[in-house]
Amino acid sequence: MSNPHSTKPIITVQQHILQEQRRFPGSSGEFSWLLSGITMATKLIQAKVRRAGLTDILGEQGDINVQGEVQQKLDIYANEVLVHCLSARESIGVLASEENEKPMLVHKGSENANYAVVFDPLDGSSNIDVNVSVGTTFSILRRPEGASLNDPEKWVLQPGSKQIAAGYVVYGSSTILVYSVGDGVHGFTLDPAVGAYILSHPNIRMPSQGKYYSVNEAYSDTFPPRYVEYIKRLRSGVLGHKYGSRYIGSMVADFHRTLLKGGIFLYPPTETNTEGKLRLLYEANPVAFLAEQAGGMAIDGTRRVLDIQPDSIHQRTPLVVGSRVELADFERFVCPS
Ligand code: AHG
Ligand code: MN
Ligand code: MN
Repeated sequence: MSNPHSTKPIITVQQHILQEQRRFPGSSGEFSWLLSGITMATKLIQAKVRRAGLTDILGEQGDINVQGEVQQKLDIYANEVLVHCLSARESIGVLASEENEKPMLVHKGSENANYAVVFDPLDGSSNIDVNVSVGTTFSILRRPEGASLNDPEKWVLQPGSKQIAAGYVVYGSSTILVYSVGDGVHGFTLDPAVGAYILSHPNIRMPSQGKYYSVNEAYSDTFPPRYVEYIKRLRSGVLGHKYGSRYIGSMVADFHRTLLKGGIFLYPPTETNTEGKLRLLYEANPVAFLAEQAGGMAIDGTRRVLDIQPDSIHQRTPLVVGSRVELADFERFVCPS
């Protein structure tokens, strides 16, 4: 719990959401009820992550997901928990997950279903077994005009600029939830003693420039050549100082550092992933939304990420996200004129 002698009020994420909900006239509590599904699910996931090693939750499940990637047991657990918690919310009509091939229709026939939630239940799977931060990312979309209950894809195939809320949770040295409903970015740290997310990072602004770049440099031989030159440029000092590098391999954790400390995170096209590796709907879009809300930028190498019209739910995209100074320089130096 926060310092009991402090005069600062303790604000839980639930209280905060109720205030923010005023931005959605007529939503009559359904939006906060929806978000409480996410907070509940991520508390259950973090409890499992914290006990990894004690319970039989580490390691591979033995199946391959729709991306052709090996599923870890925690991937499956996190997915099931999110689907379970969110299916209980009548306001949600469609759920789409990294771990499911197709979007799922929930509450079939309910006229109260106005929202779709898209998520990566567990980001950074390769780090689970070695006590390195992992996370969950989510994006919330409103049911588009005229989208029927028979066409769940139409609910989610919307550009990121249509997100009405987005966020993530990092299961790191503490558990932190960061979200935005389009009115700034706010962070809440889970107080494990009371089981509540408490406002710890109000109105986060991304510094205009940082010290680090973050990219898997092992693939640099197959990056487009201008990316390689740009990274050299960061190291050279032309932007005012010589950059260091940090790469965790969990996008959500690498982004969290970039959000708080500034800098740039890149997942460029590579030989094996010619469109980049990260998924547009549930990885790039939420962090792009948060980056912009915090004063940063996110592009796919040329275009604003939030302007991309998706045509499939597991579509991948290159991602370059971070502070304004680095992104403006990237645009000048790398993007075709
Ligand atoms: P996921 O665990 O959801 O499949 O995502 C892993 C992603 C992302 O978190 C990270 O930035 C990236 O994979 C790391 O990929 P490389 O190992 O190719 O660098
Ligand atoms: Mn992921
Ligand atoms: Mn994942």
